[in-house]
Amino acid sequence: WGPEGHAIVADIAQQHLDPTAAAQVQALLQLEGLSRLDDIASWADNTRKERPRTGGWHYVDIPLRADAYLPPRDCPRDNCVIAQISHFSQVLADRSAAPAARLEALKWVVHFVGDVHQPLHAEDDDDKGGNTVQLQFFGRGTNLHAVWDGGLLRHALNLVPGPNYSFDHALVQADAMQLDASISPADRAAWSAIGGLPQLYTQTVAWAGESHRRARDVAYAHLDGRSQAAWSQRYQDVAWPVVRTRLQQGGVRLAAVLNELLGS
Ligand code: ADE
Ligand code: ZN
Ligand code: ZN
Repeated sequence: WGPEGHAIVADIAQQHLDPTAAAQVQALLQLEGLSRLDDIASWADNTRKERPRTGGWHYVDIPLRADAYLPPRDCPRDNCVIAQISHFSQVLADRSAAPAARLEALKWVVHFVGDVHQPLHAEDDDDKGGNTVQLQFFGRGTNLHAVWDGGLLRHALNLVPGPNYSFDHALVQADAMQLDASISPADRAAWSAIGGLPQLYTQTVAWAGESHRRARDVAYAHLDGRSQAAWSQRYQDVAWPVVRTRLQQGGVRLAAVLNELLGS
């Protein structure tokens, strides 16, 4: 996701931390004078230039036409988002680790639980997760990956980037609260039930599998006619509901993960 998507996931999660987890999060953020999860949600992207070897941690390239995640093929040397969620969850849960290391682990976990819910972060079609699929979206030249990282949600939430566009935290926070409020109690309960820490890896694989199926069945299944002007709106209509749900799931599950790792 882009900054808006990561902030939405973080804002939804922030609402649902239990008191113990919220206090722990607060104490870690305090180390850098910060107070909210959305303050750190895009740190992992901002540090990418300085740490090029972390680039592969943001996604998992499950081939689009493959049925399932295969670690040796899709996550060599733990270079994928699934392995990194496991790794940094353990650091975050370790009360004896240095606070600065735990804060950094929190930054990775907040970001990666968001990314694994972005459908195009769990597939590859020999196109770098859609990055090389050029297209026009509402009159703007872009690519399929960028449409899913931010184009669809910016269009839906009227955060249309013009030359003077800058990401407005307060605006995005209000959108996040609306997305959060519209989650049904049944969905919230189902998405929160992630089991204990030993099950986190299996859960993460399942979340990547959901993303992968949505990439195949939605993102890549509706590309026909994309050279026509009317295509953008048709695509928005089928894809935005999926993006919306993935952001909601990411937020609810991130809260569940943090409650599990840091809660009472
Ligand atoms: N680069 C290669 N595959 C990618 C993916 N699935 N998402 C983002 N960047 C990528
Ligand atoms: Zn992306
Ligand atoms: Zn990322």
